[in-house]
Amino acid sequence: MRVDVLTIFPEYLDPLGLSLVGKARRDGRLDVRVHDLRAWALDRHRSVDDSPAGGGAGMVMRPDVWGRALDDVLPAPEADSAGPVLLVPTPSGRALTQSLAAELAREPHLVIACGRYEGIDSRVAEHYGATGKARVLEVSIGDYVLNGGEAAALVLVEAVARLLPGVLGNPDSLVQESHGVDGLLEGPVYTRPVSWRGLDIPVVLLSGNHGEIARWARDRAIERTAGRRPDLIAGLDVAGLDRADRSVLASLGWVEVAGRLVRFAVREAGPADVDRLVAFAADTFRDACPPGTAEADIRAHVVRHLSRESWFERVGSPERNLVIVAESAAGLLGYVLAVLPAYPEEPPADPDVASAVPERPAAELSKCYVRADLRGKGLASALVEATHAELATRRVASRPVAAVWLGTNESNRRARRCYARLGYLPVGRRRFRVGSTEHSDVVMSRPLGELP
Ligand code: ADE
Repeated sequence: MRVDVLTIFPEYLDPLGLSLVGKARRDGRLDVRVHDLRAWALDRHRSVDDSPAGGGAGMVMRPDVWGRALDDVLPAPEADSAGPVLLVPTPSGRALTQSLAAELAREPHLVIACGRYEGIDSRVAEHYGATGKARVLEVSIGDYVLNGGEAAALVLVEAVARLLPGVLGNPDSLVQESHGVDGLLEGPVYTRPVSWRGLDIPVVLLSGNHGEIARWARDRAIERTAGRRPDLIAGLDVAGLDRADRSVLASLGWVEVAGRLVRFAVREAGPADVDRLVAFAADTFRDACPPGTAEADIRAHVVRHLSRESWFERVGSPERNLVIVAESAAGLLGYVLAVLPAYPEEPPADPDVASAVPERPAAELSKCYVRADLRGKGLASALVEATHAELATRRVASRPVAAVWLGTNESNRRARRCYARLGYLPVGRRRFRVGSTEHSDVVMSRPLGELP
């Protein structure tokens, strides 16, 4: 690749003789030529700027000087060539990203025109774009203002040169780096000593288990990206996400909706949520009913257990009920209802459950529903984890909740696996009727305040 840089401060580009870029030049992979713009100035003072048309602060670089310089440096147009890319660093340019750097790395010839002062007369970019002598690209290296384009030129050359074949000693470095193929920021990195100033390298990195190490690194990358660059998470290709990725993302408040990752918040519901809860709970109950459930039974259940009054009562009695919702800008995505006993020793109403769950006080995870199209995406886990965290703060007559239990349909293996991952163990069974249908639930329970 050839790179020509035009500047009034050629020494500014001296660092391009150092390190990997310098080596690439010496190896003949990169041909960098730095030109002093003043060589094309004709007057005694070799001036390159003038006052801005229309008035205003500062000075603008003259088109005649730039025109002579670029006419000399740009090659004569050829029929079968698109010509070089003329890069003009400016804070008003297109953002330099890794993908733009990769695009530029495929070009044989870049010319970088470094402006100073208030910039280069705009007719320069217009002229070279219109005449086909170059493809003009104004680029910004970030949302801040530098004194000129030279520092940006250094950045551009380094970002592009390291992508040229043979420039990096180990091309694998390009895979697991920030803004690499997976679209995530790179997580933390460590080297010896294992313990330094009281800080230890995470033990998994010393385990030699490459699968676990890769998973750990990916989890940290996702966490860091979600915290620092939520815009990158929103732009991730969901096809590249596995189950574990989705579960970490959900724990950080991101879930896939219709092929895109969207932010959701998990919070306790209040009276203002009741109308939405009524509609949502009826829909999700219907969706979750086994095929063949009688319509009359569904309606009767909704009227009896999911009425507006019942929701008002639940959100208005925090000593007995906990309603947690997950919502995105598009509305409710899921909810959990947990029920606390009236007094510490109150046993679960069903005697089978009471004997299967001996801990007191025992709270019931009574309902956990997510929108039908969002099942299996980690949302239920995020809701249940939030419920555990909140229940751990609740007291029943000053006693902390000792266990949480739930009943889940015997045939729903997916739900059971999900609860098992959240620390629930099967402890018994219970039978009950919805209308005329007999149901059998597996009862699962987990102590509270312990990690699963
Ligand atoms: N010149 C001045 N500020 C700049 C920026 N942020 N990016 C590129 N060129 C610049």
